[in-house]
Amino acid sequence: MKIAVTGAQGLLGEECLRTLGAEHEMIPLPPHGDLDLVNFHATRDWFLAHKPDVIIHTAANRDPDSCELNPDLAWTSNTLVTWNVVNAARELDAVLVHASSDSVFPGDRDLPYHEFDEARDPINLYGRTKLASEKLVRQYIPKHFNLRMPLLFGRTGGMARNNLLKLYAAARAGKKTVAAGDAVSSACSVRDIARSLSVMLKTPFYGTYHFANSGSCSRASYLQSFLKIIGMDPDMVTVSTIDAINRPARRCRNIFLQSRLLEPVFGITLQSIDDALTETAADLKADGLI
Ligand SMILES: NC(=O)c1ccc[n+]([C@@H]2O[C@H](COP(=O)([O-])OP(=O)(O)OC[C@H]3O[C@@H](n4cnc5c(N)ncnc54)[C@H](OP(=O)(O)O)[C@@H]3O)[C@@H](O)[C@H]2O)c1
Repeated sequence: MKIAVTGAQGLLGEECLRTLGAEHEMIPLPPHGDLDLVNFHATRDWFLAHKPDVIIHTAANRDPDSCELNPDLAWTSNTLVTWNVVNAARELDAVLVHASSDSVFPGDRDLPYHEFDEARDPINLYGRTKLASEKLVRQYIPKHFNLRMPLLFGRTGGMARNNLLKLYAAARAGKKTVAAGDAVSSACSVRDIARSLSVMLKTPFYGTYHFANSGSCSRASYLQSFLKIIGMDPDMVTVSTIDAINRPARRCRNIFLQSRLLEPVFGITLQSIDDALTETAADLKADGLI
């Protein structure tokens, strides 16, 4: 299959290119500076010239704080861009994979959210833009995979977009990283997501799917686990609270994703967060990044 990837330089997009490239013809969209997907006609022209069978749409502004501070940018980068990509997929009759988020839920309960829970009441603007994007995908593209994902980590994206690489660089420089101990969530390795897609894209079982490595972590504990795994001092992470960090966008205290579908439909069981972090550390070492 010919698979185009938006956000190809990002954490998830670059991993999709690497993993799926073993089996498919991959076409990365140009970097943001060369093609702004906000531009309807430039986006349409690019897709019509390349005619992919599948579009993996990962490009977005995933920073809840900058979304909250700049609503126009948030709706443009996330929902208008998705509208443009949806229209290209519709015109080409391509399968569309949409990167969505646990932020479409309010995080108002201790139980995990599964695929049959209704996405509703996001607590920040980022979540509202992602929910609106999901609705476009569901409304206009019957052949879609809508992936709801929690905190993501992996080997890709480079220093600018990879929190583990940022943590490693700070710790090496003797600088502590502050993270909330009371923001507890699911987490998932982008490599697990890309491997799952290689199975899912061979099927016609379209729909919404949740992704999470087993277990849960706080923003602080996942960073500390990574430092322990690579033999560095976990105390280079200072544990704080959501209130003390006081970011512009509201954050959920507890938000967990569960999949009721991946195993029965595709036979996919995701590894634990610790195993996925261990694999990521090995990948980063193999790539010479840590
Ligand atoms: N990372 C997470 O923890 C997480 C969790 C749940 C869901 N998600 C979702 O998963 C998807 C991928 O996330 P990610 O972590 O891989 O993001 P990322 O590393 O920030 O990559 C996103 C990429 O999209 C590009 N981009 C943004 N706006 C664009 C535009 N208008 N035109 C062209 N390119 C544009 C960015 O380029 P520039 O950087 O140059 O702007 C960047 O290369 C996003 O949709 C995000 O909402 C992420």
